[in-house]
Amino acid sequence: MMKKVLITGGAGFIGSHVVRRFVNQYPNYHVFNLDALTYAGNLENLTDVNGASNYNFVKGDITDAEFIQDLFAQHDFTYVIHLAAESHVDRSISNPIAFVMTNVVGTVNLLNAAKHHWVDKFEGKRFYHVSTDEVYGALGETGMFTESTKYDPHSPYSASKASSDHFVRAYHDTYGLPVVISNCSNNYGSHHFPEKLIPLAIHNIRNNKPIPVYGKGENVRDWLWVEDHARAIDVILHKGKNGETYNIGGHNEWKNIDLIHLLCKIMDKKLVRAEGSSAQLITFVKDRAGHDLRYAIDATKLKEELGWVPSLQFEEGLEKTVDWYLNNQSWLDHVTSGAYQSYYQDQYEKR
Ligand code: NAD
Ligand code: TYD
Repeated sequence: MMKKVLITGGAGFIGSHVVRRFVNQYPNYHVFNLDALTYAGNLENLTDVNGASNYNFVKGDITDAEFIQDLFAQHDFTYVIHLAAESHVDRSISNPIAFVMTNVVGTVNLLNAAKHHWVDKFEGKRFYHVSTDEVYGALGETGMFTESTKYDPHSPYSASKASSDHFVRAYHDTYGLPVVISNCSNNYGSHHFPEKLIPLAIHNIRNNKPIPVYGKGENVRDWLWVEDHARAIDVILHKGKNGETYNIGGHNEWKNIDLIHLLCKIMDKKLVRAEGSSAQLITFVKDRAGHDLRYAIDATKLKEELGWVPSLQFEEGLEKTVDWYLNNQSWLDHVTSGAYQSYYQDQYEKR
C-alpha cells in the first residue's frame, strides 16, 4: 500500500521544494498537493513533477472546513505536511484578517479533519506543522532562539503563526494528535515570490530599478537555502518525535545592507556591469512598522538529535539563486505582471 502524503501550500515557494523532494525521493508515497493558488501559489513552480505518477494537485482552500473534511474522508492520509499560509509580513500589516483566516482558521480546519478521520488509529500518522522563527519575536545584538524561547510575536503574520503553533500543540496535548512542529529562519532560493527581500532585489537590480532597503538596513536575518529546509522537513517527518518542536536555521546571519551589497557584487559580475554599479540602486526607504531587529536560530537540537546540518555556504547559494532568476526570466515576468504592479505601487510608492 502506498502511503498518502498531503502537502498543503505545495504551489508556493517552500512547498514546491518539499513537493519536488517527496515526489522524487519517495516513489512509494503518493503526494497530494493541496493549494488555493493565491497570488503566491504557482503551478509553474512544479512543471518538472506535474506529470509524475505519484503526484496529484488538488485545488482547494484550507479555510473551507467542509471541503477539508471531504478530502480526508476520500483519502486515508498517513502524513500531513502543512505549509499553506499567508506568509508576507508587509501584507499582514495591510490586511491582518487574511492571516487569521488562512493561518489560524485554516490550520484548525486541518487539525479537526485529522482528529476526526484518524480517530483511534493515530499509530503511524503524523501532522507536521511548518512554522517560523518569527514567533519568538526579536533579538537584540546577542543571543539565539532555542526551542524553549518564549513566544513574543510582533507582526500580524507572526502572531497568526504563533496562534497556529499553539493550536497544533493543544491538539497534541488535548486529543493526543501525533504532531510535530518546526520553526525555521528566513529561506532563500529559486521560485521565491519577488515580494520578499532577496528575489525583489534581484528583480529590481536586473531591471535597473531602486532597491528599497527599510530603515538603515541594520536588521539581521539568518538565511537558509530552501532545499536544506525541505531536507530538514524530510528528516523531522521521519525521525522526529511526536509533540516535539525543532528549530531549523542556517547559522548564517546577515545585516540586510551587507546582504544587498553582496548581491549587488554578484549581479554586477553576472550581468557584466561595472563593479559598484548595482549598489548605486540602493535606496533607503521608510522602515517597516514594528520591524524586528534580529533573528537567529540555534539549531543544535536538530543537529544533535537528528543529524541535520545545512549543506550550502551562503555565497554559493546566493549565486545559484541569482543564476536561477536570470535563467528563468519568463517565470519572473509572469509573476510580476498584473496584480504585482498594484501591490508594488501600494507598498513602495508611498514610502
Ligand atoms: P508562500 O507564500 O510562497 O506560499 C504559500 C502557499 O500557500 C501558496 O502556494 C498559496 O497559494 C497557498 N495558500 C495560501 N492560502 C491558502 C489557503 N487558504 N488554502 C490553501 N492554500 C493556500 O509561502 P512560503 O514562503 O513557501 O512559506 C511556506 C510555509 O513556511 C508558511 O507556513 C510559512 O509561514 C513558513 N515559513 C516560511 C519561511 C520563509 O522564509 N519563506 C521561513 C519559515 C517558515
Ligand atoms: P522579508 O524577505 O520580507 O522577510 P521577513 O520580514 O519575514 O524577515 O524581509 C527580510 C528583511 O528585509 C526584513 O528585515 C525586512 C527587509 N526588507 C527590506 O529592507 N526591503 C524590502 O523591500 C523587503 C521586502 C524587506
